[in-house]
Amino acid sequence: MPCGSCRWQCLLGLFWLTQLWTAVEADVLEPTYPASVLEDAELSTVQLLAKYKYPGETHTVTTEDKYVLQMHRIARPGAKPVLLMHGLLDSSATWILMGPHSGLGYFLYDAGYDVWLGNARGNRYSRSHAKLNPNTDKAYWSFSWHEIGYYDLPALIDAVLSKTGYQKLSYFGHSQGTTSFFVMASTRPEYNAKIHVMSALAPVAFMTNMQSPLIGVGQKVLPLIGEGQEILPYYKDFSICMLSKSVVEICMFYLWRLIGKDPAEMNMTMLPAILTHVPAGANSNQFLHYLQLHKSDRFCSYDHNAQENQRIYGRSKPPDYPLEKITAPVALYYTQNDYLSAVKDVKRLIKRLPHVVENNLFPYKKWNHIDIVWGISTRRLAQPRMLEVMQLYEAIGAQNGTSLSPEDTDSTTTETAQTTEQTTEQTTEHTEGFLSYSLNRLINYIFDD
Ligand SMILES: *[C@@H]1O[C@H](CO)[C@@H](O)[C@H](O)[C@H]1NC(C)=O
Ligand SMILES: *[C@@H]1O[C@H](CO)[C@@H](O)[C@H](O)[C@H]1NC(C)=O
Repeated sequence: MPCGSCRWQCLLGLFWLTQLWTAVEADVLEPTYPASVLEDAELSTVQLLAKYKYPGETHTVTTEDKYVLQMHRIARPGAKPVLLMHGLLDSSATWILMGPHSGLGYFLYDAGYDVWLGNARGNRYSRSHAKLNPNTDKAYWSFSWHEIGYYDLPALIDAVLSKTGYQKLSYFGHSQGTTSFFVMASTRPEYNAKIHVMSALAPVAFMTNMQSPLIGVGQKVLPLIGEGQEILPYYKDFSICMLSKSVVEICMFYLWRLIGKDPAEMNMTMLPAILTHVPAGANSNQFLHYLQLHKSDRFCSYDHNAQENQRIYGRSKPPDYPLEKITAPVALYYTQNDYLSAVKDVKRLIKRLPHVVENNLFPYKKWNHIDIVWGISTRRLAQPRMLEVMQLYEAIGAQNGTSLSPEDTDSTTTETAQTTEQTTEQTTEHTEGFLSYSLNRLINYIFDD
């Protein structure tokens, strides 16, 4: 391992140097993007809301373990509250980033809701603590998404309910925003009673069948970075991807390998805004915890080492999350080309959840991990259904027995998949261009040991 890791580290370093050189030589891309998009890249969540004439607010919430979180709000006082929670490396901006004609945050506000946008500990807006300094105290970086579920979500939910006077709210999570919800609702089951319905976008619990080709890279790079390290923090000029056309191509190459390729649904004009708002910072433990799930074939607490596990859990292996305790209604929205949340893993989760009210596998063969949130068609093809389901479960409250027959939804959508989708299937490496092809070869070479 030490020898192997040196080899690939040097190669990768050399490779990036040459790429950077090319980038600096090449023309700068920025002038080819609309000024408004470049401006969106610079603005914070609340500044974006102000720019597009929505009533943005910032609220500060302190968790039981004294992490200080920032929550954003598209304020409609008196209206029913809905809480939206972003995914890994992401922030509250994700729900409004693509603009008023697209973002779920705007859609829900326009539909009459009081919209609250959470930020997980460690990201650019919630990088704070009552006592610990994230820049100097190692203890600050001692969490994974377990703590986001166990501490952050309850604090955010309680803050929304106390500020609005409502007893319950509806919840939307994307990716890690669903994982952390499942952690909360299983380990602090009393919070189920505060949820009308949880809408899980690209749900992640079991990860056995995750097929992202970057897993291998993660498995090698993360142990070198180590536990409890800040990863990819927000950086105002993270426009390194925007340096030149060839660098954009490299960034997109990695992005597609991470989340599944679907250029048709990605608004490339928005790239400068996307690549500045994301990444917004995370802890290496969040990645490590996900990799543990992939390897262990379980949905369980963080695996420290046998001794530490014994101390924390009273056993040598971390315990499974008791999914049977998640009694809140759960609506699941997932896609077929999602490299991170595989259909098989979602179906396994669905079997274990006691109260599934919507099992919606979208019929679009290429939709990936992020299309449900940022996709060009999500406003037209996904958001109206999410609203409909949410409104139904707000109306029936805690009532039992009403069902949208999840089984039917699933089978009909799968059927339409065959007919509506274009015939172009999986894109092959050959169509990806020379640079991507060479990169692929290089990566295969580096990791083929
Ligand atoms: C892509 O983004 C640009 C800039 O925000 C916008 O003008 C355009 O309408 C978007 N395209 C689609 C297809 O949504
Ligand atoms: C659903 O009904 C069962 C018994 O019929 C009850 O135990 C359970 O608490 C109910 N769930 C909700 C969310 O009302």
